[in-house]
Amino acid sequence: RGKKAFIAGVADDMGFGWAIAKCLAEAGAEISLGVWVPALNIFETSLRRGKFDENRMLSNGQLMEFAHVYPMDAVFDTLEDVPKDVLENKRYAGNEGWTVSEVAEKAAKDSGKVDIVVHSLANGPEVQKPLLETSRRGYLAAMSASSYSFVSMMQRFGPFMNEGGAAITLTYVAADRVIPGYGGGMSSAKAALESDTKVLAYEAGRKYGVRVNTISAGPLGSRAAKAIGFIDDMIRYSYENSPVQKELHAAEIGAVAAFLTSPLASAVTGQTIYVDNGLSIMGLAG
Ligand code: NAI
Repeated sequence: RGKKAFIAGVADDMGFGWAIAKCLAEAGAEISLGVWVPALNIFETSLRRGKFDENRMLSNGQLMEFAHVYPMDAVFDTLEDVPKDVLENKRYAGNEGWTVSEVAEKAAKDSGKVDIVVHSLANGPEVQKPLLETSRRGYLAAMSASSYSFVSMMQRFGPFMNEGGAAITLTYVAADRVIPGYGGGMSSAKAALESDTKVLAYEAGRKYGVRVNTISAGPLGSRAAKAIGFIDDMIRYSYENSPVQKELHAAEIGAVAAFLTSPLASAVTGQTIYVDNGLSIMGLAG
């Protein structure tokens, strides 16, 4: 039986979510996506017009297909949580069933239980502000979109996961080392995500028989990273100072995600796995 994967946080072919989708598709999994509601229209248009085709090509010569593409907003758990102004926002109107609980139920109804859940999303409206200047609202928004969103996904998708399944999130070294420029409470959100990975590994391990791990990725020039503002500097710094001096490819994160969600990693859970060309082991710039 082929595995079924649900991946939240794909809106183009540049980020980690896409690369993970591709590696899982290469391994034979059926892929469904959760796409942020405001980004859905452009994603679907680009997909239809063939903009991603080059990056959809699998080694068997076929294009990666998505079984289902769902609108999703991971900062809302149920329809009752959604404020009126969001419901009426023109980018949300016309889409429905995009809160985490509704997406989980729809996905289960359409495809049955899933084996793999991927959380590849983050948002911090004040990411460009140092923590010392971050507002309570901005900090809590970062936590809501980037950390609680995963807790919510495990709550809602857990009951629809097959035993032996696995979940993956993406984190960043700013969780436990100071990365100047990664502000707005995003460092706090990643620290929470890494801690939650352990607690959820325990709780969901006992309750659903699934594993939970997080990949701490090195810098990639994704859309989200470009919004932070210093990604090119980070990529250069990483290249210059890492033990492995090469560009980091999103596919390398995809490969580790495929491993972590496979039976090869059946005893690995609750871990933060660095996929960063080794940069995180350095104590002094090399
Ligand atoms: P990306 O822009 O490809 O992915 C972020 C996705 O989150 C986007 O598709 C966006 O639409 C979605 N999103 C934002 N708010 C959302 C919400 N409320 N509900 C649903 N979806 C929402 O960028 P990237 O870099 O691939 O990010 C994926 C993950 O990797 C994030 O957790 C990020 O923090 C993490 N990461 C990225 C690094 C980098 O250098 N790019 C380094 C380490 C970790």
